[in-house]
Amino acid sequence: MEPVEINAGTCYLRAFRADDRLDDRPALVKAFSDPAMRRFVRAYRIETIDEAGDYIATRAREWKLNQRASWAIAEPTTGFLLGEVGLKNLHPSALSPPEAAIWVHPVTRKRGVGAAALSAAVRFGFGALELARIDYVCDEDNTASAALAARCGFTYTGTTTGVDGLPAQRWTITSGAQEAAPGR
Ligand SMILES: CC(C)(COP(=O)(O)OP(=O)(O)OC[C@H]1O[C@@H](n2cnc3c(N)ncnc32)[C@H](O)[C@@H]1OP(=O)(O)O)[C@@H](O)C(=O)NCCC(=O)NCCS
Repeated sequence: MEPVEINAGTCYLRAFRADDRLDDRPALVKAFSDPAMRRFVRAYRIETIDEAGDYIATRAREWKLNQRASWAIAEPTTGFLLGEVGLKNLHPSALSPPEAAIWVHPVTRKRGVGAAALSAAVRFGFGALELARIDYVCDEDNTASAALAARCGFTYTGTTTGVDGLPAQRWTITSGAQEAAPGR
């Protein structure tokens, strides 16, 4: 797949960039130094500009391999990085169902950015990718993440095992359910 841009209203979704005109790498380093990110987004460590560059290259590769659709959540006028949202486990060989993932930059939280971006990514999953179902997995004690899932129309389905083997909450949504969600 080629990366696509999505207008999500209060923000827009675009591919990550590290070029002369827009460089997401410093904002990535700053976001990943946040304690909530270190606690709840444990699969990645980004501490240097080079590691941020590697992360951006990984996301570009995943688009090409049809594994993951991921977007930088961007401020509409400046293009500045506000967070990231994505749909993973997209390849037919994936062992787990398609799953949404998101983080929002610490300075931009609790302003509706997460709900706008996650709802837009889910709409893309159902519309463009014709997925039947999208899951969302977060730590048992990630109150903000669970509230976001509920806000976007996901239904709690029970306890699951997270990527690192810890107990986690699993949420799920189907296309029809999104139509009725307040966050859409
Ligand atoms: C989870 C996260 C993405 C939410 O993003 P956000 O932009 O702050 O979310 P929104 O402002 O769109 O809020 C969405 C809903 O969650 C609620 N919410 C947000 N933060 C909350 C918090 N700390 N405690 C309780 N509810 C919270 C909001 O009130 C809103 O619900 P409502 O519309 O019913 O009032 C953000 O807190 C984050 O990046 N956390 C660190 C990384 C992380 O945990 N990612 C998820 C990993 S599974």
